[in-house]
Amino acid sequence: MPKLTGKTALVTGAARGIGAAIAHAFLHEGAEVIVTDINVEVGQATADSMGATFARLDVASEADWTAITEHFPTLDVLVNNAGVTGLEGPFDGPPPAHDPENAQLADWHAVHAINLDGTFLGCRYAIRAMRRKGAGSIINISSRSGLVGVPMAAAYASSKSAIRNHTKSVALYCASQGLKIRCNSIHPAAIMTPMWEPMLCNGPDREKREAAMVADTPMRRFGTPEEVAAIAVLLASDDAAYMTGAELTVDGGILAGSAATPGS
Ligand SMILES: NC(=O)c1ccc[n+]([C@@H]2O[C@H](COP(=O)([O-])OP(=O)(O)OC[C@H]3O[C@@H](n4cnc5c(N)ncnc54)[C@H](O)[C@@H]3O)[C@@H](O)[C@H]2O)c1
Repeated sequence: MPKLTGKTALVTGAARGIGAAIAHAFLHEGAEVIVTDINVEVGQATADSMGATFARLDVASEADWTAITEHFPTLDVLVNNAGVTGLEGPFDGPPPAHDPENAQLADWHAVHAINLDGTFLGCRYAIRAMRRKGAGSIINISSRSGLVGVPMAAAYASSKSAIRNHTKSVALYCASQGLKIRCNSIHPAAIMTPMWEPMLCNGPDREKREAAMVADTPMRRFGTPEEVAAIAVLLASDDAAYMTGAELTVDGGILAGSAATPGS
């Protein structure tokens, strides 16, 4: 039996990577899916390829969320997936510093605007859109980096940590309102998506670089976007009716131990 029949789900940052895999898995489970992204060209193509609806949404823009509210006033599932490290590039010259000593305030704010403000705005929209039915599931994509420090990507780690905490505020708020709106966070690590391309690059050493990056991952491999999507399906479905405010790691065991050192 499909697990999401009759539900409408909106996924942010779903043009590619984990978001696209979640959108695809939700469709497979019978949901109506709205693929959203700031990248219209790729987002539209992704939505078309799977038979989903596409809408442009820059998660950091309050005006964009207002437009989404007008187009999609009711909702059953929201996945706040869009996210950036701030190190994506391309840059004219060397990448900007993201360590606590040298990072620029503007770079710090830019990462938080997408990752954290975007999640706040998404949760606010979802609570209002789910209140009509009195039920729903909000899934916030945090990170392993929301649970440990990352010295060379401090803004990313800070924003992901705040997402983890805001998830619990949303969960408690909705429960206190007598709403069956659940809110949980997923904490992936080392999932093979285009996000890793600037670090892996193509070339003869690519395989070696990949292996080095997962050398301290207990399962010794990258995860797949589909392995994150499977957990999102669980949280979106009524099977998870008693789960709220929870955090689920999808990280090949990294956070089960204490040996792993955050990479640069
Ligand atoms: N890949 C990993 O190893 C990993 C690990 C931990 C957490 N995550 C998190 O998972 C989520 C998805 O990561 P991914 O690896 O698929 O990344 P990705 O870079 O492949 O995809 C991110 C998508 O977000 C979109 N996006 C960027 N800024 C946006 C904005 N302002 N508004 C709307 N969309 C925007 C991009 O266009 C892109 O389609 C992110 O939140 C990321 O932090 C990924």
